[in-house]
Amino acid sequence: MRIYDIIKKKRDGEELTTEEINYLVENYTNGQIPDYQISALFMAIFFNKMNKRETLDLTKAMINSGDTVDLSGIKGIKVDKHSTGGVGDTTTLILGPMVAACGVPFVKMSGRGLGHTGGTLDKLESIKDFRVELTTDEFINNTNSINISLCSQTANITPADKKFYALRDVTATVENLSLIASSVMSKKLAIGSDAIILDVKVGSGAFMKNIDDAIKLAEEMVEIGIGYGRETIALVTNMDEPLGMAIGNALEVKEAIETLRGHGPEDLYELCIQLGTRLLLLAKRVKDEKEGRQMLKEVIDSKAAYNKLIELVRYQGGDTDYIQNTELLPRANHIISVKSNKKGYVKSLNAEEVGKCALALGAGRETMTSVIELSAGIVLNKKIDDKVDVGDTLAYIHANDIAKAEEVENRLKRLYIIGDKNEEDKKLIYGLVTKDGVKLY
Ligand code: URA
Ligand code: CA
Repeated sequence: MRIYDIIKKKRDGEELTTEEINYLVENYTNGQIPDYQISALFMAIFFNKMNKRETLDLTKAMINSGDTVDLSGIKGIKVDKHSTGGVGDTTTLILGPMVAACGVPFVKMSGRGLGHTGGTLDKLESIKDFRVELTTDEFINNTNSINISLCSQTANITPADKKFYALRDVTATVENLSLIASSVMSKKLAIGSDAIILDVKVGSGAFMKNIDDAIKLAEEMVEIGIGYGRETIALVTNMDEPLGMAIGNALEVKEAIETLRGHGPEDLYELCIQLGTRLLLLAKRVKDEKEGRQMLKEVIDSKAAYNKLIELVRYQGGDTDYIQNTELLPRANHIISVKSNKKGYVKSLNAEEVGKCALALGAGRETMTSVIELSAGIVLNKKIDDKVDVGDTLAYIHANDIAKAEEVENRLKRLYIIGDKNEEDKKLIYGLVTKDGVKLY
C-alpha cells in the first residue's frame, strides 16, 4: 500500500477502504508517513469529505493507535459526558455530583484545555491538594465507592489524534465534520463508559456557529458512538453567551458550589437538569423525564449532590474546607466593575470574545505550557435580555494585574451590545439527537 495512492483516491473523490484508513493512521502515528502527505490527504478530505463508514473506521483506527481504559470493574451502567467546548461551562462539576448522588456512576477522564478558559482539571486544581492524576485502579475503586471520579487522561490515549490535531491546526483543516467527530469520539470511546451524552454547543462561543451544522456534527458523533457499540446521545445547546455568570477557574468552582447549594444561575442549573435527566434515562435509573427531573431536584434540595462533591474532593485528596468555605479559593488582587454608559437591554454578548478577555486576564492557556492564573476571570452581572441603566454594573473583572484589567474593561464594555429588547426569547436547548433521529425543541 502507498500513501500516494490513498491521497490520489481521495483527491478524486473516491471512498477509502478500511485497510487504507488503518494503514494511514498506523503509519502516521509511528512516524513512517511524513506530515506533508497527511496534510495533502486532509485537504482532500476537507473538500471531498468522508462517508459514515469511513468516519467510523477512522475513529476506530485512532482508538487503536493507543491505550484504551477498561472500566468493566465498575459496577452498574457508567455514564460519561462531553462538551464540544464553550465559555464558562462549569456543568461537569455540578452534573457529576448530581448524577452520582442519584446512584449512577459518573466517570470522566479529561484532557487539558487550550485557549479560552481552563478545562475541568484546571478548575479542580483551585481546590488545595486535589489530585487530578489517578491510576486506573484508583479511578475504578473510587467510582465503586462513591459513584464518581474525575481525572486526567493517561498519556497514551489516541496518540494519532494528538498528531492529527496539531497538523490540522496549522493546515486549515480543522473544520471538517468527519475529522472533528472522529477526533472527539476517539478520545471518548477509548475510555470504557457504557453511555455517553454529548453537549454540542452552538453559537458565538462555540466551534459550530449555526444550528444546522451543530445538528450535523451531533448526528455524526452519535452515529460513531452507536457504531462502536455505545449508547450515545447529544443535546444541541446554546453558546451565544457564556454559561452561568462566572468565567475563570476558581470563580467557576465557586459557581458550581453555589449551584449545588441550590442558588446557582438559572441557565447553568437548567442545563445540568437537562443533561442529568438524559443520563438517568440512559442508566435506566428512571422511567421518564419527569421522574428524572424530580430526582435531580431532590438531590439539590436535600444537599445530597453538594455532599457528593465534598466526598469527591475528600476521595481525591483535596481540602474539603475549600468547598465549605469558598473564601479560601484563590482570589484575585483586584476586582473592577465594568459600568454601562447606555440604557436599554443587552442584545448580545459574544461568548468567544468574552472567553478571550478571560484568557487575557490569565484564566486560560495561550500555549500548552502557559501557567493558568486560577483566581483570574470575569463574573457577569448582566446577560442577554437583561435590562440595563446608565451606571449599572455589567460585569466584574477579577485580575492580578491592573493594566490587564483596564484593557479588558474597555474590551468588555464594547462587547456588551445594548439596544432594544430582543424579539425572541433566548433558548437553552435546540434539539436532542439519538439513534432514532433528531428532535428539535
Ligand atoms: N475538539 C477536538 O477534540 N477535536 C476536534 O477536531 C475539534 C474539537
Ligand atoms: Ca460559568
